[in-house]
Amino acid sequence: MLDAPIADQVTVRPAGRLRGQLGLPGDKSISHRALLLALLANGESRITGAGDGRDVRATAGVASALGARVTRLDGDARTVDYLVVSPGRAALREPAGVLDCQNSGTTFRLVAGILAGLPAFGILDGDESLRRRPMGRIAAPLLAMGAAIAGRADTTLAPFAITGSAQLRAIEHASPVPSAQVKSCVLLAGLAATGRTVVREALPTRDHTERMLRARGVPIHTDVLGDGSAIHEVFGPAAVHPLDERVPGDVSGAAFWLVAAAIHPDADLLIRNVGTNPTRRGIIDLLRRMGADIEERPVGTGADGASGEPIADLVVRSSSLHGIDVDPADVAGAIDEIPILCLAATVASGRSRIRGIGELRHKESDRVAGIVAGLAALGARIRADGDVIEIEGGRALRGAAVASHDDHRLAMTFAIAGLIAEGDTLVGNAGAADVSYPGFFDELERVRA
Ligand code: S3P
Repeated sequence: MLDAPIADQVTVRPAGRLRGQLGLPGDKSISHRALLLALLANGESRITGAGDGRDVRATAGVASALGARVTRLDGDARTVDYLVVSPGRAALREPAGVLDCQNSGTTFRLVAGILAGLPAFGILDGDESLRRRPMGRIAAPLLAMGAAIAGRADTTLAPFAITGSAQLRAIEHASPVPSAQVKSCVLLAGLAATGRTVVREALPTRDHTERMLRARGVPIHTDVLGDGSAIHEVFGPAAVHPLDERVPGDVSGAAFWLVAAAIHPDADLLIRNVGTNPTRRGIIDLLRRMGADIEERPVGTGADGASGEPIADLVVRSSSLHGIDVDPADVAGAIDEIPILCLAATVASGRSRIRGIGELRHKESDRVAGIVAGLAALGARIRADGDVIEIEGGRALRGAAVASHDDHRLAMTFAIAGLIAEGDTLVGNAGAADVSYPGFFDELERVRA
């Protein structure tokens, strides 16, 4: 599957049983950040177990175009180790060509924050999906900091042409949407600004950037307030020190196997080395609230990775699930897992309501439209109304042809549905899975054997 063409269709047949151990790609969010912080640091950084999907490869390509020597060392089908040698932020080079972020919103938004603080000209672009995604949310704070940016549609859509400045203004930015990408973009720009750059978010989002900057010597501070909102401050100008990083397995990839085993009548799976960061583990806790039998065996603490990301092995078995209400604060901690959670809710007894899903319309595809259409085609009772998805559970699914809209998370969600649906499930553009989980379909075949 690794080199499957984009337009491929995969047929998934029901599985009699699910058994075995799963290997995950390295966490995508952490892998992007490890590469980009290695780019900003002067010296050598080793990254062990990075995800080897197309998104992280795009970031590695951008890091080398900006002047780092990025070498692929060891790896397997899903992960790769990198050695990054960089001259550091002050000596990065103006990229000779367009920086192609491909399908990766994280690459685009984080690199925009870096380019804003470089006295250089750079153009950021990506694929058709990326060119549809909202970029005004990063243009506004970066313009306020003093970067010059021009983009399509009044600088709200890619491509962006950015002329940065080594002397940005520190700002206070209240993010209009819960987004770790926006937060990280502004904090990375804040490294090149003089003074205190502040990001406020109404709902806390994944905190990898803050952990990783802190571990690399950057003065950064976070306060979580009584109402659940968060304030992040970085004090610039600040240097990033090189640091080796071991990347935990991607909990967003683990989510597919957690749901597969929980909804399958004869399943027992062991998922090794899963990152269980409190700002990312929402799917584990939501599935448990639905009644999923998930055993968590912690295998590491702060000492395991440079940034202190917690890691656990997870054992998940066939479960009897019931519907739940999910509120917006829970959605922020499981934003990429909502599609696979919808599949679990389809099979669970009773009704589920997921509120605050607006941001899902702005991912690699409109995931609200995609999940509603795909699961309905498989026989689910699911509807979306504004910011809410409602699912009447207890449905037996039957195979059908479903469109993934070239979106990795939808492709993998429908493939997992195929394990329990009656008959054949035909997943369109299944190769999209390679964006975050190379080898996903090989794992799918292995655990059903
Ligand atoms: C990510 C943040 C989330 C998430 C994406 C990865 C990150 O996006 O959906 O897959 O690495 O910061 P938003 O910050 O836009 O919500």
